Amino acid sequence: MRQINVGMIGGGTVGSGVFHAWRRNGALMASRLGLRLRFRSIAVKAYDEPRPYAIDRSLLTTDWRSVVEDSKVEMVIELVGGTTVARSMVLAALRLGKPVVTANKALLSAHGEELFAAAGRHGANLYYEASVAGGIPIIKSLREGFVGNRITHLYGIVNGTCNYILSRMKLEGAEFGEVLAEAQRLGYAEAEPSLDIDGCDSQHKTGILASLAHGFWVNPKHIHVEGIRAITRLDMQYAGQLGYTIKLLGIVKQAPPPRAARPAARIQVSVYPALIPNTHVLANVHGVFNAVFARGDVVGDTLFYGRGAGKDATASAVLSDMADAALDLAHQSQRRVPPFVCHAPGGAVLPIGEAVSPYYLRLDVIDRPGVLAQIAAILGRTRIGISSVIQPEGHEGRSVPLILMTHDATDDAMRRALARIGRLAAVKASPVMVRVENFN
Ligand code: HSE
Repeated sequence: MRQINVGMIGGGTVGSGVFHAWRRNGALMASRLGLRLRFRSIAVKAYDEPRPYAIDRSLLTTDWRSVVEDSKVEMVIELVGGTTVARSMVLAALRLGKPVVTANKALLSAHGEELFAAAGRHGANLYYEASVAGGIPIIKSLREGFVGNRITHLYGIVNGTCNYILSRMKLEGAEFGEVLAEAQRLGYAEAEPSLDIDGCDSQHKTGILASLAHGFWVNPKHIHVEGIRAITRLDMQYAGQLGYTIKLLGIVKQAPPPRAARPAARIQVSVYPALIPNTHVLANVHGVFNAVFARGDVVGDTLFYGRGAGKDATASAVLSDMADAALDLAHQSQRRVPPFVCHAPGGAVLPIGEAVSPYYLRLDVIDRPGVLAQIAAILGRTRIGISSVIQPEGHEGRSVPLILMTHDATDDAMRRALARIGRLAAVKASPVMVRVENFN
């Protein structure tokens, strides 16, 4: 049986998870693939660093270059994270024509175009299933399974930490800060959680999905990102009364047909918390789970659900990429499925100001006659219609929450209206605005 020699860089949580999963199922993979994957060497930071699964000492080295440059290593797995040394590692392997498997979404987000170009120049390939939504095979689905579809809509719950926090706020009525502190104590959330809760991790992942779905490389700087810090227990509670829940979504959707002067496709690519109907399947994705909902013009609606992070889910995705890379090597078809093809070069990300959605607004107002009329007049002048209002019973002259749901409006129009509303004497705090996603 043909054997493919693998070199891996990174022997921490994910690396040792991959090694362990290969130990467990390597023989099964060999019988399925008709070829055997064999680890030849593994570069680690330190021989004795703590790792959840043991790795044979004889395979370890602290010199990553010796792994990449070993002429017997045919495929390189990069699992170190970060964007500096990881970039050098991946480029070094690609320059030698070796296929690379990576789980590194930050690296792809920052340097994807450069790495894909290097892979093309050197006849190699780059496999990155583990970079988005862990064990969910969404990259393979976009690269291969949906190749005959235009992906008109894609919505992802792609950050487990945020989904865990929002789920507990919803299910237990907990406050954001309490849940975050407990998640940190239990090790679910990082000590420095801002990459997750401010939406940056979702930004990397959503950019990769958007690029694959629409055929032009989406620069992360063009993605509008809002995290979940501003969501309160009160908002979750009022959303519930209105039949919604709040989820942090990565959103990729075609904007309405462009005008003749602007013939190229424009795609909304955003990350923000959104009210979604309780009846939608994504509303029932709880805890650390991830899900991606994709709508193709041929296939219709599809849903992917699973663990988005953790050593085992990530290992599952890395093993799948190792299998593809090994088959491509064995059949001398390294470019059979290129990592990314720019087939819509004029495509652009829709400015967030032009994005259209309904809105949930929570205002802190003085309960007195005429206040609702003033607010409605501002919305009316901005051509924003109100679809429903909740005002819990208050006391005249005291401050009360006022909840408004609106019809569709552009982000620009809503921001203009909110600036005026915020200046009213009866409005006591900055208005809270959360977009609504009805998946139409
Ligand atoms: N920090 C990420 C999450 C996992 O919470 O989903 C790594 O992508």
